[in-house]
Amino acid sequence: MKNFRGRTLALIRDFSVSEQLFLYEKAKELKQKWLNKEDLDEFQIKDPVNIYIVFVEPSTRTKESFINAARFHKNAHVNIFDAEHSSFNKNESYVDTFNMLTSYGDYSIFIVRTRLEGVPRLLERKVGEFAHRHGIDKPAFINGGDGRHEHPTQELLDEFTFLEQNNFDNSYIKIALIGDLLHGRTVHSKVDGLKIFKNVEVDLIAPEEIQMPEHYVEKMKSNGFEVRKYFSIDEYLSSSNIARTWYFTRLQLERMGEDILEKEHVLRKAVTFRKDMIDKVKEGTKFYHPLPRPKINPEIPTFLDELSLNGWETQARNGFWIRVVLLSMLGGAITMECDEPEKTPMEEDEYEFIIPAQIVHGTKGVAKEGKRGIKPIENGTVIDHIAKGKSTEEVFNTVVKIRRILKLYDCDSADGIFKSADGSYKGYISLPDRYLTKKEIKKLAAIAPNTTVNIIKDASVKEKYRIKLPPKIYNFDEIRCKNENCITHPKNGENVGASFVRIGDKLVCEYCETPHEYSEIWVI
Ligand code: NCD
Repeated sequence: MKNFRGRTLALIRDFSVSEQLFLYEKAKELKQKWLNKEDLDEFQIKDPVNIYIVFVEPSTRTKESFINAARFHKNAHVNIFDAEHSSFNKNESYVDTFNMLTSYGDYSIFIVRTRLEGVPRLLERKVGEFAHRHGIDKPAFINGGDGRHEHPTQELLDEFTFLEQNNFDNSYIKIALIGDLLHGRTVHSKVDGLKIFKNVEVDLIAPEEIQMPEHYVEKMKSNGFEVRKYFSIDEYLSSSNIARTWYFTRLQLERMGEDILEKEHVLRKAVTFRKDMIDKVKEGTKFYHPLPRPKINPEIPTFLDELSLNGWETQARNGFWIRVVLLSMLGGAITMECDEPEKTPMEEDEYEFIIPAQIVHGTKGVAKEGKRGIKPIENGTVIDHIAKGKSTEEVFNTVVKIRRILKLYDCDSADGIFKSADGSYKGYISLPDRYLTKKEIKKLAAIAPNTTVNIIKDASVKEKYRIKLPPKIYNFDEIRCKNENCITHPKNGENVGASFVRIGDKLVCEYCETPHEYSEIWVI
């Protein structure tokens, strides 16, 4: 049996597809029983729990449905945190504030909405450690929306609503996402949330300025979705094969920069439905919207409210039942028959990216290269193949960067750019009597993957390593996430070190998931 107590839902994929489907099954049961006024005791949390609702950004539906869902649970102590009059305004950090709130009960569930991105993941880690230090049960965190990043509980209620429309058949969905796909967190959560369907087709409808960020499009494709792009509803309606599920989102004016805001009128026009479009929409189509819709020029005009196209009212109502069930699960009232193995954190060898390479005696580059004017070294390290294949300027810049970040400027050393036999360029740094620590090699791997490190002793190469991009890069003062809305960004003063995980050949921020080239993470 799987118990969900202490689990955090920061991203929709924090719950596996089978856990999500389980939740939808339970929500279906609860909704039916609720509407038939049957007994709902099985959904009630039995053990005492503190449920804290902490919204630092405005909200109506998410906040109020959570308050009502929390009050459904009679044993729960429901607290609505007054963010406006709290120590947030005395510049207290999120971690300190939540550590405190965790102390007021044996087990707490927090529902958190913030402007900054990556906060729920940070709290899960840091407040989890605090709870451990004090013998308190690990708290659960629910992301109620973190900046432009994710909105997993909206995703749960959206997917539940699509399933309901599909008679709970999850074999196929074709969906149009319309509106502000750049800033809208509800559409970003769709990238993984739609994976509950076996076949997925997504049509993205938005002007270029507010189209879906490319890394999300790539991710949808790698999830196996078929993706098409259109720049306006008009263009979409003149194409063939139009979806029956339309998901609108509001223009997120509060998150737009001046340059996009200036074009608001034109952008809005491209994603707003008009009366003359009705005949072109397929029979059986439903419109959805996470709401709110703006009262002036709404994307879904109010004349549609009375029509069978209206799916957004049922969608919003579903939010309550979904959130009751989510709390039932996190409160331990509902456990899941477990057919998938529990995820255990992967024991990874921190240094698996340092790969021993074959030493070819007699032909060692150091000696050959030495003929070009650099004396071969007796003892020490030669870093070779730096930025191989890149332009001479890039090779040079990488050499300089390595020297600067590893502080290799106060030692006897030499460097250069060489043309290899195949015509490509590479850089090297030769360091007599200097050996790199593992931490330095790790830094080197993150600055310039695919270099080789030669350890020279008594004028011959004793060890040789090829170094790859490390699986995780953290704990270095010189790295930074480029997203200014990320909880780790120094501008936000939360004092959280940046941390990246390798996904393919990119580095993704562990908190806000912004993808980076490895050359972008270094501050110097
Ligand atoms: C959305 C949100 O806050 O992300 N609304 C919601 O939670 N129901 C969408 C929006 O603000 O436009």
